[in-house]
Amino acid sequence: MKLLAASAVDAPALAAIHAAAFPPGAAWSAGTIATLLGLDGVVGLHAAGGFILARRVLDEAEILTLAVHPDYRQQGIGQALVETAALAVAAAGAKVMFLEVAEDNAPALALYTKAGFARAGRRRDYYAPGVHAWLLRRSLEA
Ligand SMILES: CC(C)(COP(=O)(O)OP(=O)(O)OC[C@H]1O[C@@H](n2cnc3c(N)ncnc32)[C@H](O)[C@@H]1OP(=O)(O)O)[C@@H](O)C(=O)NCCC(=O)NCCS
Repeated sequence: MKLLAASAVDAPALAAIHAAAFPPGAAWSAGTIATLLGLDGVVGLHAAGGFILARRVLDEAEILTLAVHPDYRQQGIGQALVETAALAVAAAGAKVMFLEVAEDNAPALALYTKAGFARAGRRRDYYAPGVHAWLLRRSLEA
């Protein structure tokens, strides 16, 4: 599978994937994605049908978003994006990686558990009133 570094010119294509992957109202615009890709420490990777954005600040990193188009799911793309982003931020100095995921998002929870993330906290009403999130953490140290 071919993974490429994402840049601002990819933002419209990535926004289309995001819109197909997330419910209406949760989609990120091309402008938002382009802005994030321009920030210090942000790593963007894309594959056919999917992309990930992660941000490193000093020795901590966070997955900002992960999206795989429904037509491309369950082919290992999400897992490859997470693993490659983890390697990239670790190479830049991150020792730990965090993310928030809705506690009812079974596919994502399964993916992240398989990728070595574990629960580190719970954020009530994180996405909306009554839609809570797990904070997940993975060490990037050998
Ligand atoms: C979550 C998401 C990124 C998974 O992408 P994907 O490319 O289909 O995932 P992969 O094929 O790499 O799957 C890796 C592992 O995740 C788990 N998984 C993925 N989809 C699953 C599903 N529908 N049900 C249960 N487990 C699932 C499995 O453990 C799988 O390993 P396996 O194939 O050995 O069983 C994708 O479903 C998606 O974009 N969802 C909407 C957006 C989203 O929820 N993003 C994450 C927000 S934090």
